Amino acid sequence: MENVQKYIAQHKDRFINELIDLLKIPSISADPAYKKDVLNTADFVKESLEKAGCDTVEICETPGYPIIYAEKIIDPKLPTILIYGHYDVQPADPIELWTSPPFEPVIKKTAIHPEGAIFARGACDDKGQMYMHVKALEYMTNTGNLPCNVKFMIEGEEEVGSESLAWFVPRNKEKLANDVILISDTGMIANDIPSITTGLRGLSYVEVEVTGPNRDLHSGLYGGAVANPINILTKMIASLQDENNHITIPGFYDTVEELSAEERAEMAKAPFSLDAYKKALDIEDVHGEKGYTTNERNAIRPTLDVNGIWGGYTGEGAKTVIASKAYAKISMRLVPNQDWKEITELFKNHFESIAPKSVKIKVTPHHGGQGYVTPIDNIGYKSASKAYTKTFGKTPIPQRSGGSIPIVSLFEQELNSKSILMGFGLNSDAIHSPNEHFGVWNYLKGIETIPYFYQYFTELSK
Ligand code: BES
Ligand code: MN
Ligand code: MN
Repeated sequence: MENVQKYIAQHKDRFINELIDLLKIPSISADPAYKKDVLNTADFVKESLEKAGCDTVEICETPGYPIIYAEKIIDPKLPTILIYGHYDVQPADPIELWTSPPFEPVIKKTAIHPEGAIFARGACDDKGQMYMHVKALEYMTNTGNLPCNVKFMIEGEEEVGSESLAWFVPRNKEKLANDVILISDTGMIANDIPSITTGLRGLSYVEVEVTGPNRDLHSGLYGGAVANPINILTKMIASLQDENNHITIPGFYDTVEELSAEERAEMAKAPFSLDAYKKALDIEDVHGEKGYTTNERNAIRPTLDVNGIWGGYTGEGAKTVIASKAYAKISMRLVPNQDWKEITELFKNHFESIAPKSVKIKVTPHHGGQGYVTPIDNIGYKSASKAYTKTFGKTPIPQRSGGSIPIVSLFEQELNSKSILMGFGLNSDAIHSPNEHFGVWNYLKGIETIPYFYQYFTELSK
């Protein structure tokens, strides 16, 4: 692998331009208006895997968007790495807050990325990080450096809950058989503080509807005498957390894995500046569950957040009205041992039970998934750690993330293998936000680091 840096230096302009072409296609899985673009992106990924040297590349049809499966098997006796990633992206809105159009990628310098970052929806999550694996494979096949077998499984519905992949995996266990799953769809602490993600939170996502009177009413003629669904909904939501920001749903914490004092002390060693954190977000103070630090609050503790709330009159000027209905979308991030279906049920029962008789409640579960934690005493983690040490010159820190990739726990259940989360993004890369970007340095560093994972994993498997 010693010539990897040279290969990247020779081909880096092409690597960047190819990613830019991929980022130009608006593969927004949530919005059916972009169906053609999502399908075109699948074709793009297929062709790129063919060019990178895979022997078999298939577009696998599913009830939803297709999954690209590819493989290069050099010797069945050697280990097999399965690469997972996603080619779909989040919607770009609010579009007016982008400093350049989300699907017209441009490279701009930032304080954190002095060498430039590619600004586009999906640059970091996950097209840029997924494409690092395609380019790393290209390097290994073109230079005779591929040390083991590799399979790719790239899906187009991660941002909407991976339903089709959950359908596909149990039906293709043999095809997907592997020794380790490698994923770049997370982040690291900083460019000079490499870290490996060892945990993801689970998720339960629900929508609630509160119905009051059977039609919108004049707020003067009826106000004060009839339940206002918006008033009721906000009161109900407010009651879901107490004065310590502890969630009040009965049974919510029953199965939560509590970390030992040693584990918490170990976590607290990770470099973190609360001042820098507040400054980056322009906030005077942080907020969260009493008794826990910021890093604990967003990694090892469960949460409940309203993601959207609407109802009534929101147009220009004022309209005096009591709306018939109010709505909210609520997500709960879950930690190990909490079961997302059980939590969804607890939420539903509690929310229905706290509603006054003056309104009707409907709770509709959306998607969800289990959390994931991976131990660090396995050869997958060790190989990743050695790979970062080689290319960053520093041993990476294991760190649990607050984000979710619900399909990862299904991989473990169905395919019986560990997922190693080698992410090269930064929290400041604004994934899901306006002006998402991915550092050019990070992109190239990922391409450089991945082949070493292959090498060390093959060596440690012997
Ligand atoms: N890649 C992210 C998850 C992520 C990002 C994990 C950074 C850790 C660090 C993924 O695409 C994502 O956005 N997941 C969703 C859940 C999904 C079911 C929509 C999330 O975490 O909100
Ligand atoms: Mn992602
Ligand atoms: Mn995402």
